[in-house]
Amino acid sequence: MGRFELRTFDDIGSLAVHAADIFIEIALKAISEKGYFTVALSGGSTPKRLYETLASEEFKQKIDWEKTHLFWGDERCVCPESSESNYRGANASLITRIDIPAGNVHRIKAELEPKLAASLYEKEIIDFFSKYGADSLPSFDLVLLGLGADGHTLSLFPSTKALGESKRLVVENHVEKLGAWRITMTLPLVNSASNCVFLVSGKEKAGALKGLLAGKDIPAARIRPAKGRLLVLADKDAAGGL
Ligand code: 6PG
Repeated sequence: MGRFELRTFDDIGSLAVHAADIFIEIALKAISEKGYFTVALSGGSTPKRLYETLASEEFKQKIDWEKTHLFWGDERCVCPESSESNYRGANASLITRIDIPAGNVHRIKAELEPKLAASLYEKEIIDFFSKYGADSLPSFDLVLLGLGADGHTLSLFPSTKALGESKRLVVENHVEKLGAWRITMTLPLVNSASNCVFLVSGKEKAGALKGLLAGKDIPAARIRPAKGRLLVLADKDAAGGL
């Protein structure tokens, strides 16, 4: 893995508070410099505490949600009401608890046919960034990332087609081992972000985290923001073996 910084925490609660502080720091800087803040939320269960922390009375006032745009790094190909949906998770733990304009929530329409869902989402990202005058590759201010025990991140699973995508910004990805389709941002898009932050929690992630930090060629190790900062936030259960 390229330039990265590892920060460890006693538990998911303290990790979530630190991640919320980083979220706010990046948001304040982006809004003061450009007038808007773009973040790609991560899926799975780990970020739930972060989203709840951001939605708490103490934290939510610190963010200008009118100027914040929420995207997702990936989504399962299910309807938004499904318990599998990453949108549903963030909606319950964050979006319904803050005052954010509906137009600032860029949900992946993963209930549609996968290829169509991917191309619609890619178009939404490109149109959004070109509206704000972005010239080349869209560059998110912050991409939140999880880590799977098998070393996947986003929906870039080992030995799947999406991992090798070098042109498209968003693709549909069939994950054999899950027997399921996913929609995911690709490495070219994520690696153009200003900040990539992994949130890693739990003993079951210790092996993948060790591999990530040792430079093992797992999908998560291909997250190498060209100009951006790369942070790994891990609780002591995940970082125990380091
Ligand atoms: C997803 C995620 C995926 C997730 C990891 C970790 O849609 O599931 O994008 O990459 O971040 O699998 O998931 P947990 O946080 O649930 O362990």
